[in-house]
Amino acid sequence: MVLLGETFPNFIADTQMGSINFHEWLADSWGILFSHPNDFTPVCTTELARMIKLMPEFEKLGVKVIALSCNSVDSHRKWIEDIKAYAETDKEFPYPIVEDETRKLATLLGMLDPAEVDDHGIPMTARAVFIIDPTKKMRLSILYPATTGRNFDEILRVIESLQLTEKHKVATPVDWKTGDQVMIQPTVSDEEAKTLYNNIKTVPLPSGKSYLRIVSQPL
Ligand code: BEZ
Repeated sequence: MVLLGETFPNFIADTQMGSINFHEWLADSWGILFSHPNDFTPVCTTELARMIKLMPEFEKLGVKVIALSCNSVDSHRKWIEDIKAYAETDKEFPYPIVEDETRKLATLLGMLDPAEVDDHGIPMTARAVFIIDPTKKMRLSILYPATTGRNFDEILRVIESLQLTEKHKVATPVDWKTGDQVMIQPTVSDEEAKTLYNNIKTVPLPSGKSYLRIVSQPL
């Protein structure tokens, strides 16, 4: 099980695009690894199809996309035809799907869901999402239940926030979207904040503490 801020483990795995050494494949990009309970399942099919459509958004942010499902490459290849049909595209499938029939990776990465078992009673992978930064550190980890499809707009929003807060000493508030106002990080003193940002709006609070400091999103 990997924790936030830890180096994401390297692995070598087969995909329908050939064998991948995960760290070499990522190189110095951001990455999203998202897992699926099973091939040929309805929710997963909608998710992988949506990811085809969102590929340009992930590419714009410099994020490489890779999926994992605990079935064989052969099964993934057949499933891809369904996913492409659902996505209404004839184009080549744009991202690799890792095979993990033995659940070796799912076990290493803490993805197994004891509530979802296959025909042999073996746990399948949960709907996990991991965001990995260019230094290979894990920056986001979410586990969804098998019966709930993910919201990939939210995943893009988090990546935008992570990339912004890498560059600037700000944090993004509830329901933030790119372009909205942001908050100055609590670790920044008022003196330093004044040297970094113009037009700081400090929200008066009953505690008298001046920690809610709002500024325009820096570029
Ligand atoms: C699905 O992808 O639709 C699914 C997979 C496992 C359990 C429930 C739903």
